Amino acid sequence: MLVLGIETSCDETAAAIVKDGREVLSNIVYSQVEIHNQFGGVVPEIASRKHVEKISYVADMALKEANIEIDKIDAIAATYGPGLVGSLLVGLSFAKALSYAKKIPFVAINHIEGHIYANFITYPDLKPPLIVLVVSGGHTNLIILEDFDRYEVVGKTRDDAAGEAFDKVARYLGLGYPGGPAIDKAAKRGDEQKYKYPSADVDEYNFSFSGLKSAVINHVHVLQQRGEEFRIEDIAASFQKAVVDTLVEKTVKLSLETNIKKIAIAGGVAANSKLREELSKKCMQHHIQLYVPDFKYCTDNAAMIASAGYFKLIKGHTSSYNTNAVPYISL
Ligand code: KG4
Ligand code: ZN
Repeated sequence: MLVLGIETSCDETAAAIVKDGREVLSNIVYSQVEIHNQFGGVVPEIASRKHVEKISYVADMALKEANIEIDKIDAIAATYGPGLVGSLLVGLSFAKALSYAKKIPFVAINHIEGHIYANFITYPDLKPPLIVLVVSGGHTNLIILEDFDRYEVVGKTRDDAAGEAFDKVARYLGLGYPGGPAIDKAAKRGDEQKYKYPSADVDEYNFSFSGLKSAVINHVHVLQQRGEEFRIEDIAASFQKAVVDTLVEKTVKLSLETNIKKIAIAGGVAANSKLREELSKKCMQHHIQLYVPDFKYCTDNAAMIASAGYFKLIKGHTSSYNTNAVPYISL
């Protein structure tokens, strides 16, 4: 089955063609990051206008690169939320219109759920049950994936998402947008033991990144006011350590408690090198198998949406043309 995936929930206009949920024939991402960078974050109105400009082109490119005629596509999957409503509407309307015109099924995908499927692309034999840590710019969820399309959310953030904390701290440090990759890079030259920041731990499997973020920002503010010298690299490394420590600890704890010895990570923050390194060490210690998606499938892309679509379609799920964009939905 060939599925065309469409993703426009934030600032990436993306289209991809995936065969049988696992084999990526094309994966086109037009990133608007350069445009939003100058504003220090995504400007929703600019994002939706850019999606309108690029969506047909990106979908065309996906077909060309896969060397597939549109008439050979079996179904279309598109993100319906969460995300910026104007941005979501562009991809969703495009997908519904194309599905109607070509008389092929359409399936709406929750973006966060989509992130999980990046793992099934990178590892063609991977199957649930699985512990998944979803860490993106908008969400932080710890879940037990019991089966394709069936999961239990065990923990989440009480306030900011992990990626949001990376972005806000980076912005304060003058590292630009998106902040995650910038902090990751700066931290490599920093001393993570230099400063001790509060943990992101709340209770059981829940997180809170807002207090940690504020503590770092206030600390930098005080250092600046006192005229004390400091290295941004040390701040970045110490902050990143605090985020990663809590993420790793809770994820491994869930795996051990459920005796599901398979952990997968998903979402933009899953690209973080420190998270990958620490989780990999801990998993080795506890004989847990770790699955880490390819970098290109960690951040927003349409291949993961097409893959999630396939696993819904083979279970007989399709969506109605009345499906609307939903800016706020969780898992
Ligand atoms: O999944 P994603 O592309 O978009 C959302 O669905 O939110 O995630 C974007 C988030 C941003 O907050 C970005 O700063 C973060 O992922 N991110 C990273 C890294 N690469 C991207 N955070 C930490 N380290 C990275 N290397
Ligand atoms: Zn995302």
